Amino acid sequence: MSLKLTGAVFGLVAMLAVSNSGFAMGDAAAGEQKAQMCVACHGVAGDNTNPQFPVLAGQVPGYIENQLQAFKVGTRENAIMMGQSVGLSDQDMADIDAYYSAQSATPKSISADQVETAMLGEKVYRGGYRPFSIAACMSCHGPAGHGIPPRFPKVSGQHAAYLEQQLLAFKRGSRVNDVMNPIAFKLSEAQIRELSLYMSALK
Ligand code: HEC
Ligand code: HEC
Repeated sequence: MSLKLTGAVFGLVAMLAVSNSGFAMGDAAAGEQKAQMCVACHGVAGDNTNPQFPVLAGQVPGYIENQLQAFKVGTRENAIMMGQSVGLSDQDMADIDAYYSAQSATPKSISADQVETAMLGEKVYRGGYRPFSIAACMSCHGPAGHGIPPRFPKVSGQHAAYLEQQLLAFKRGSRVNDVMNPIAFKLSEAQIRELSLYMSALK
């Protein structure tokens, strides 16, 4: 690596460190131990098959830590997850985040009779919905649904039922987020179903 490039990389790391201030550096090995109590619901290595519980494997670094903070203080309301996060320190959350973000999720597929529905979702995901000025989902969640760290979550490989439930929660205001509330508010329940199927099957 040239000296100039090394300098640029250090500059970038310093910038990220500043923008992430308040967040601890995570240790994935420590995180694996601390995540043992999550296995019952989120599965081994965060790759579960029960659509009631979100897949955590392969989530963008930073997002899980951020959501655990939100559950703990109650800005994201969920009784189960408040109970799970209340005893976690900032360091625990950073370690757990480092562990799960380094795992990979089993890709999801859809059945032949769902393809048409998913294709309706694809249009909005990739192109937005002009009549209501809804931005293309891929501008934040990525063309293949891989998300953008640390704030924009990965949506590919996630259970469609979970994605649908979260979009409905954003729409109804029971999950609060400045970015997602106005978007989901304008989506119909049919569009939410179509988008959820499509995102889940993205690879
Ligand atoms: C008893 C079951 C249960 C256990 C145990 C559990 N969770 Fe959860 N978790 C859930 C449920 C249900 C949700 C969905 C909450 C919602 O609808 O907002 C969830 C959501 C999450 C989310 C949000 C994911 C996303 O995509 O936004 C994270 C992060 C998370 N859990 C981490 C953990 C961690 C870390 C542990 C262990 C310390 C844990 N959970 C233990 C049930 C559980
Ligand atoms: C301007 C950026 C932006 C756009 C555009 C956007 N999102 Fe999001 N989305 C976010 C952010 C930020 C979050 C995390 C919210 C939080 O922290 O609670 C999120 C969260 C989500 C989640 C919850 C994921 C989880 O694991 O809990 C879903 C589902 C979702 N978005 C779907 C969509 C869909 C569908 C569209 C298009 C109709 C869309 N988003 C457009 C920024 C965006």
